[in-house]
Amino acid sequence: MNHDSRTTAAFLKKQTSLRPTLALVLGSGFQHSLSELTVVKEIPFREAPGFPAAGVSGHAGKIVFGTFGNVSVVVLKGRAHFYEGHSLDKVTFPIRVLAALGIKTVLLTNAAGGITSGLKPGTLMAITDHINLMGDNPLRGVTYPGTIQFIDLSVAYDPKLIKVSEQAAKAAKLPMKKGVYLAVHGPSFETPAEIRAFAKLGADAVGMSTVPEAIVARQCGMRVAGVSCISNLAAGISKQPLSHQEVLEVASRQAPSMAIFLRKFAELHAASA
Ligand code: HPA
Repeated sequence: MNHDSRTTAAFLKKQTSLRPTLALVLGSGFQHSLSELTVVKEIPFREAPGFPAAGVSGHAGKIVFGTFGNVSVVVLKGRAHFYEGHSLDKVTFPIRVLAALGIKTVLLTNAAGGITSGLKPGTLMAITDHINLMGDNPLRGVTYPGTIQFIDLSVAYDPKLIKVSEQAAKAAKLPMKKGVYLAVHGPSFETPAEIRAFAKLGADAVGMSTVPEAIVARQCGMRVAGVSCISNLAAGISKQPLSHQEVLEVASRQAPSMAIFLRKFAELHAASA
């Protein structure tokens, strides 16, 4: 079924009178980071027409409207992934809904493997640029009225929002670096040879999400920020085998600081708007 993002946005608007202009997309590792948010309304993904199910363990699959003080936000708690078998059009449908809701800025978060030295587990990385090695593009084969397909990505990640991310990390006392995020489709983790190749390509961290959402958000005219929580050293750099469980554990350990990071991001963003 082809759901129109505007129909879903209208459905969500009926659930709450909050009209945020900032959205947070919480990936693996940020799932337990909402303790600072005053929740106004929660809607499971399955109740929102056209939303894909957030199938991975560790992902809640909820749309949460709430406030940090007097700053209102909408949070997508969890996301669908390409590796679950969805098309990238389906994976990015929630981003189109955010645009139809009137969202102007989106913070995309994820867990990622650290490639560059200094990107150790527990460090945050503000995404400055990306490399799409997913083998697909969310704009391929789909045309939406009023949008262009050949979008410019020379400055995909908003430099002002990178500064806001850095200030928010400082306030939350979380170490943060900046770097290039390389997206693969997964779900297997990489081989050491792949990681050596990605390092040569200029990647600082590797993950399985975010890039399709950033592309669609840019197509919809939103300002995009991206933040990775480095959950593990990438394959071959780490002496240990990689596991999804490790990814979830590392990130949830610093949930209280991440919660402060998200609140600070929202407050600083509102103050700078
Ligand atoms: N590789 C790919 N995706 C990931 C990783 C990784 O090492 N860690 C968290 N997501």
